[in-house]
Amino acid sequence: MRLRTYIFCLSAFVLLFSSCKHPEEPTPFEIAIPYGFPTRLNIPDDNPMTVEGVALGKRLFEDGHLSGYIGTAADSLMSCADCHKRAHNFDIGTDDPRFPNGKPHGRTGIHTRHTAMPLCNLVFNLEGYLWNGAVSYQQEVGSQNIEDIVKAAILATDEIGSTEARTLAALRNDSRYPEMFKKAFGSEEITMDRIQKAIAQYVRSLVSDNSKFDRYLRGIEQLTPQELHGYILFTTEEGADCFHCHGSGGSPLFTTNLFYNNGLDISFTDPADRSAVTGDIMDRGAYRAPSLRNISASAPYMHDGRFQTLDEVLIFYNEGLQYSPYVSPLMHKINEGGRHLTPNEIADLKAFLETLTDEEFLYGTR
Ligand code: HEC
Ligand code: HEC
Repeated sequence: MRLRTYIFCLSAFVLLFSSCKHPEEPTPFEIAIPYGFPTRLNIPDDNPMTVEGVALGKRLFEDGHLSGYIGTAADSLMSCADCHKRAHNFDIGTDDPRFPNGKPHGRTGIHTRHTAMPLCNLVFNLEGYLWNGAVSYQQEVGSQNIEDIVKAAILATDEIGSTEARTLAALRNDSRYPEMFKKAFGSEEITMDRIQKAIAQYVRSLVSDNSKFDRYLRGIEQLTPQELHGYILFTTEEGADCFHCHGSGGSPLFTTNLFYNNGLDISFTDPADRSAVTGDIMDRGAYRAPSLRNISASAPYMHDGRFQTLDEVLIFYNEGLQYSPYVSPLMHKINEGGRHLTPNEIADLKAFLETLTDEEFLYGTR
């Protein structure tokens, strides 16, 4: 075959092949799994992530019209981003005058049972969502996922407090959405199912992997001697002994995502702790161990937001542990009331925890 004919055939083939992709098909969104992270992801088959789906999800997540109002001056709007703020690791923070001490309440003023949670690296969590793990897609019966949390948040009176009909009407009132829904899902139709899917895609896209500590593990940044000492305390039983529940360099999520009673209380009255899910009395007062990534940004702390600062948390682990028969056996110093580290050791531990802050995630455009 002469060269010119060959080139012609080749380009005809390329043209034919490239035209196979429908021009309106969305572009797959790849989660680049960071160094050392688990490789199993929670992405359900019926909701593959796409660039257009994530973009739509981000817009919906931040849109007060989710609350079913169209936004006249008399309306009080509420979106996911009111309680899940990027600069606070998608947690509520303690600096919002609408939520004194970081205590969340819905549009109607009804308070949530627990404080809000950060939305960070949830795509790697295989153990169940919410403080008590009630939402789990691993369950054979009643399996639920982030999509279900989205719908519940839109409808719950202690959260956005809308109705399906109102939310759909308010979103259909915005002329920018039909095109975005078409790009993400192939047609302009706005449905609750698509809203849930798009927002869940956005939540799954929130991956934090660029803290100072990550850069240290990659060998491109040094920790100070103080931070290094804090890291050693964190990961040793004779030190602060945090790593059994909150992971370490070897498990970069900084949580096992499992459920423990960490010795906060003597008696337990919350009907929605882990025992409500498992039916096991020994799970009284147990909650999911939160990830410590971006921990300095995600106050208030604990399921009821009882601590406003990281210092208060560290004092608790050092000298405030409460004994009950339900305390996790991994709280090794429970009988002594805490770790009893020196003030210098506490300062070092805190310095290490602050290396888990990922500014790019909190303030970047990702
Ligand atoms: C009024 C404040 C508020 C609003 C608004 C809100 N949330 Fe939440 N969110 C919470 C609270 C509180 C929890 C923890 C609930 C619990 O476990 O008791 C939570 C938990 C979650 C979780 C579970 C995180 C984990 O690690 O398990 C996800 C996901 C979530 N919210 C997503 C959303 C989305 C998406 C929206 C918008 C559709 C939204 N939230 C709106 C307060 C809020
Ligand atoms: C036995 C397991 C366990 C050990 C050991 C442990 N924690 Fe925790 N940690 C938890 C659990 C469970 C929670 C959530 C408890 C709750 O909300 O009721 C928690 C909560 C926290 C929080 C608040 C997170 C948030 O977003 O609200 C911080 C900070 C924290 N732990 C740091 C530490 C440090 C530092 C150590 C070591 C001194 C440590 N933990 C040891 C299980 C543990």
